[in-house]
Amino acid sequence: MVTASAPGKVYLFGEHAVVYGEPAVPCAIARRATVTVEARDDDRLRVNAEDLTLDGFTVEYSGETGTDPDVNVPDSLVEAATGYIDAAVEQARDAADAPEVGFDITIESDIPLGAGLGSSAAVAAAGIRAGARELGVDLTDAEVAERAYRAELAVQDGNASRADTFCSAAGGAVRVEGDDCRSLDAPQLPFVIGFDGGAGDTGALVAGVRSLKEGYGFAADTVAAIGDLVRRGEDALAAGDLGELGRLMDFNHGLLSALGVSSRSLDAMVWAARDAGAHGAKLTGAGGGGCIVALDPTEDTATALRYTPGCEEAFRAELDTEGVRLE
Ligand code: MEV
Repeated sequence: MVTASAPGKVYLFGEHAVVYGEPAVPCAIARRATVTVEARDDDRLRVNAEDLTLDGFTVEYSGETGTDPDVNVPDSLVEAATGYIDAAVEQARDAADAPEVGFDITIESDIPLGAGLGSSAAVAAAGIRAGARELGVDLTDAEVAERAYRAELAVQDGNASRADTFCSAAGGAVRVEGDDCRSLDAPQLPFVIGFDGGAGDTGALVAGVRSLKEGYGFAADTVAAIGDLVRRGEDALAAGDLGELGRLMDFNHGLLSALGVSSRSLDAMVWAARDAGAHGAKLTGAGGGGCIVALDPTEDTATALRYTPGCEEAFRAELDTEGVRLE
């Protein structure tokens, strides 16, 4: 039996535009997904995912395409969770050249599913590291990042950047531009997260931005503008200039709204954070619902968010410099 964990993340800048080759700066946060795997003597997968939803679920299935798990939670959530788990298992089997092996898998996570905090990348990275180790193969962080990326590509129909998976595997603040992934020096940033209790469908949101970009020149310009903003953001990060970082986060949120990926609750939380005196605030991840991230060293933003209609949870998150690791 082997256990591994990997961190979730927030996007300081650059989600969506990163899918089209612009740079992005995600930052790992100290909220982790922990995956425990034990090889079985048949080819079945048994997945126990207590904390992926408020209710949790347990599901046993063969892992073959077309076999439906028999569980009492929304199909979309089960599909999302089992899709990433299947893809991670495939990668672990491939790494160990053991295509037939089954696993008992337990997932514990304090990263809400589909909420923009990188739950799927964290589960994929931890699952691949643990699954490969259980089969006798020690993968490096770079190999885990590569395989987790392939797992996300498979689930998101080819629409995924390396940003989420590289950040979860490497930890800390990172910069991703196409295939170029590197770690950045970053100060401890005073992240405050607001969560509306909902989730967006990453695949559908990415596809929506793609079709907007193909149909409207302004959307292509918006994606390029996000890239410009990220490059300025890197300078502000290197200088530790929280005021400028916040200003650029505000601009980034406006540009993401123009691409149609914000929502009423995300906008409400962003404005509550700004009104409370945060340096800046933006949605994080694919959008459509889920989380915002603000920069505020005081308690004011978290307090304001807790009184904001539509916000279910507000919490502070530290930058986590450690990526995927065996427990
Ligand atoms: C989703 O967490 C981030 C997106 O940029 C998609 C991706 O980078 O694969 C929206």
